[in-house]
Amino acid sequence: MTKARQHKIGSGFGFHSTADEVLAGIDLSGKLAIVTGGYSGLGLATTRALAKAGAHVVVPARRPSLAREATDAEVDELDLADQASVRAFADRFLASGRRIDIMVNSAGIMAAPETRVGPGWELQFATNHLGHFALVNRLRPAFTDHTRVVSVSSSGHQVAGIRWDDPHFTREPYDRWLAYGQSKTANVLFAVQLDALGVKSFAVHPGRILTELARHVSKEEQLANGWIDEHGNIVDPLFKSPEQGAATQVWAATAPQLSLRGGLYLEDCDVAELTDSDAMESGVRDYAVDPDAAARLWTLSEELTGVDA
Ligand SMILES: NC(=O)c1ccc[n+]([C@@H]2O[C@H](COP(=O)([O-])OP(=O)(O)OC[C@H]3O[C@@H](n4cnc5c(N)ncnc54)[C@H](OP(=O)(O)O)[C@@H]3O)[C@@H](O)[C@H]2O)c1
Repeated sequence: MTKARQHKIGSGFGFHSTADEVLAGIDLSGKLAIVTGGYSGLGLATTRALAKAGAHVVVPARRPSLAREATDAEVDELDLADQASVRAFADRFLASGRRIDIMVNSAGIMAAPETRVGPGWELQFATNHLGHFALVNRLRPAFTDHTRVVSVSSSGHQVAGIRWDDPHFTREPYDRWLAYGQSKTANVLFAVQLDALGVKSFAVHPGRILTELARHVSKEEQLANGWIDEHGNIVDPLFKSPEQGAATQVWAATAPQLSLRGGLYLEDCDVAELTDSDAMESGVRDYAVDPDAAARLWTLSEELTGVDA
């Protein structure tokens, strides 16, 4: 059971570790990695670190021209909020006949204003969860027995579980933070069920890093939260650099220490403990690693996307 295994293992890495430090001594030559969102923030730091360790990295991008400016990695077009785009990307990749060793699902949006996509889906659930659900399952024919899939979740999952009766906020008023929290819980449950189905999978909280993710959080709100000062400088001591923020997802994707583990929520380059604290800091909520909820979300996601997973 995932819940019983949510305990620190003493990895030797921690809060301050960087992606390069985690990869020291690991040779990824000949390996292929797909990093969604691999052209900004934590995804870009992940792309750079994996490429430096020898991997060939493919970056599916909503804005390919921006991605080509940001990285030397292979770039292709993908809009996670558009299921036709997800299918087209997966078909192109599968047609190339290549295998996937590592998949890091780092793309995401946070606290976006109420927006509907596809058949009326709420944008954060559609992008952060349903897009990745369809992408991974469509790409599964290219997985090997050793493929690892990493879902970049967040401590924000602690704000909300899955709103089973109203995932798209059609009955109750939209709340941009509840919608983000739900989508990040979905990222964890996805990893739990994917692992249960035989694909080694982890969910991670990267830490707090000031990136473009905060584009929907006003300067006033960032000031009020104590993230920045009036000049825009980061003042919160709990913030990490992007290279530190990428460390846990890179660790999840490659660490030999995790070769016999899976279906777990990780943070600070270690397995996280369960929490029911209101402090909203470290740990994973019980409802996010519940196997029954993971199976239920899988079925719901299959029904919504029409992807036979
Ligand atoms: N930064 C933090 O403090 C923090 C904390 C906890 C969890 N996280 C998680 O970490 C992940 C990465 O965040 P970040 O800080 O690196 O943010 P970021 O710098 O904004 O990067 C997010 C990436 O996702 C892409 N993306 C957004 N919508 C997309 C779509 N519809 N289709 C394809 N790509 C799309 C963005 O592309 P465009 O620029 O083209 O939109 C961008 O490349 C997110 O899942 C976030 O929830 C971050």
